[in-house]
Amino acid sequence: MVPAIGDFEVARNLKRVPYPYTDDDARAFLRMADEGWSAGTFFAFAIEHRASARLIGGIGCVIGGDEAAASQVAACGYWLARSEWGRGYGREALARLVRFAFHELDPPLARLEANAHAGNIASQRVLIACGFEQAGECVETCAATGQAVRALRFELRA
Ligand SMILES: CC(C)(COP(=O)(O)OP(=O)(O)OC[C@H]1O[C@@H](n2cnc3c(N)ncnc32)[C@H](O)[C@@H]1OP(=O)(O)O)[C@@H](O)C(=O)NCCC(=O)NCCS
Repeated sequence: MVPAIGDFEVARNLKRVPYPYTDDDARAFLRMADEGWSAGTFFAFAIEHRASARLIGGIGCVIGGDEAAASQVAACGYWLARSEWGRGYGREALARLVRFAFHELDPPLARLEANAHAGNIASQRVLIACGFEQAGECVETCAATGQAVRALRFELRA
């Protein structure tokens, strides 16, 4: 996980991933993921290459929003190791997360949200391929670069 997500080309497209990324960052993330599953607030998955069982990425969603139905809304994020880009795995993983959120989670979510940096065309294509629609824009700070970035907001309703 550390070398893959610690690749600047991966980290710079994510909001909360520090750069450089250390073993301690990974341990803290895994603890948070464990607690999140127990609390029912954060559902993190490894993306595994089916034939080889290699870890090739991560995907997950965190419950919460700033409205009354916050418990039925989740923000999602995902990444793939750079060596695995361009093979359709992003779309496959996000489609699986959508199924989990709307059909397996109990109670199911009403809406999934995702932000993609304005320049991150690959992620926008993945979101659109999975049925997400653009729902506005925002500015977010990228932990890896420390810079404010224009991001497109996407959402998918159940
Ligand atoms: C986002 C990410 C998971 C997508 O990986 P992927 O599934 O391998 O995506 P691809 O490289 O196949 O690109 C998806 C689509 O965008 C297209 N695309 C990619 N880069 C493009 C570019 N610069 N301009 C135009 N189209 C582009 C691809 O051709 C592909 O098209 P298709 O839908 O017709 O197949 C991967 O790029 C990644 O891990 N990036 C770093 C982390 C990240 O950005 N996470 C998402 C944060 S919102």
